[in-house]
Amino acid sequence: MKRFPDGFLFGVATSAFQIEGALDADGRGPSIWDRFAGESGDTGERACDHYRRWREDVELLGELGVNAYRFSLAWPRLFPTGGAPLEPRGLAHYDRLIDALLERGIEPVVTLFHWDLPQALQDEGGWRNRDTVEAFAEYARTCFDAYGDRVRRWITINEPWVHGILGHFDGIHAPGEKDLRGAVQAIHHLLVAHGRAAQELRSGETGIAFSLFPTYPASDHDADREAAWICDGYHNRWFLDAVLKGSYPDDMRELFAQRVGPLEFVLDGDLDTIAGGDFVGVNYYSRGVVRAAPGKQPFPYEVVSAREVNVPLTDGGYEIAPAALTDLLVRLRADYGDIPILITENGAIYRDAPHDPGRVAFLDDHLRAVHDAIEQDVPVRGYFHWSFMDNFEWALGYEPRFGLVHIDYETQARTVKDSGLRYAEIARSNAL
Ligand code: FCB
Repeated sequence: MKRFPDGFLFGVATSAFQIEGALDADGRGPSIWDRFAGESGDTGERACDHYRRWREDVELLGELGVNAYRFSLAWPRLFPTGGAPLEPRGLAHYDRLIDALLERGIEPVVTLFHWDLPQALQDEGGWRNRDTVEAFAEYARTCFDAYGDRVRRWITINEPWVHGILGHFDGIHAPGEKDLRGAVQAIHHLLVAHGRAAQELRSGETGIAFSLFPTYPASDHDADREAAWICDGYHNRWFLDAVLKGSYPDDMRELFAQRVGPLEFVLDGDLDTIAGGDFVGVNYYSRGVVRAAPGKQPFPYEVVSAREVNVPLTDGGYEIAPAALTDLLVRLRADYGDIPILITENGAIYRDAPHDPGRVAFLDDHLRAVHDAIEQDVPVRGYFHWSFMDNFEWALGYEPRFGLVHIDYETQARTVKDSGLRYAEIARSNAL
């Protein structure tokens, strides 16, 4: 029997745009995702209709036995145009949600920015424009004032790499731009925004959630080792060094500057601002085996497709790699010290429902991996499974299913999967 520390958070995670639907309700303004249909052609128009069904969903969270729930506030519900005036109906909605969670003994862990930027701010350049940082600080301050008496832990920004790169360089996420310089600039501003929000906080704790991607060289050859190090710099070190050490890594600064020119948008004092927060959020899905690939953009490496090697895969085609999660957590402590860690996302795509043995095994394996890290003195304070329920998976639409709860999108019926039942057992006993 593996017991978790007392007070360990067993939670589930969602984000506003992926579940709420009701895009026109209660004065909400448009966001950059509203009309952005990725390759699937699906939009977030209806999603899980959670904005209207939230009471039922809070009951369901009670059934799952979790003691924490990570969700995001939709910035365009609070500030339909990005800044004042404040929409009181949006504010009141999350107020009720927070109270209902607390009544059931579920800690609300609140994300401020999970990609649904108000369109009005995008029209002014979005995250490429430094003014968005101050708009975010204002929005954060408003949320801290409104909910800070009940919310203790805040996630400022979700996955600056994914939002920055997929949205501004690869163009497959909103806002759909394809410019590496713009992406690096947007990422920098997202990081400054994290730091500004941390400065605004009066009580409680803030952390930023990173999409961390542990890299392993495909061979012992120097070229592959160097390739893995660059990939690590691009996905991980750029962010971790900035927030946890107050500096960008020199090798990556140089590589970015070679690709996009001088990073003059990094102003004096920015890195002091960025180096804020009380914990770090880790979103972990899989690892990457990396080899050298001269000429590849933006950097000369490639991630070996998991299908090429003989490893177990999720239905989404990702390698199932729980040991890499332990390695990652141990590395975080070794390289960055004793900063408390929340696993803010971890999960997988499995088609089967309600009997989903794949997800049950994935869950067990990854929780065991987290426990292994705790045994090695890594200060992990909680684990949030992605996701509470099936939802709108961005560019991929409704096809990939990540939920512990199945959604029938025709009827909006919710059915707890076997993995949800298993999670309830673990959460209630605080042990595996
Ligand atoms: C992460 C996102 C989250 C969800 C999962 C599957 O990158 O933060 O919204 O899409 O992946």
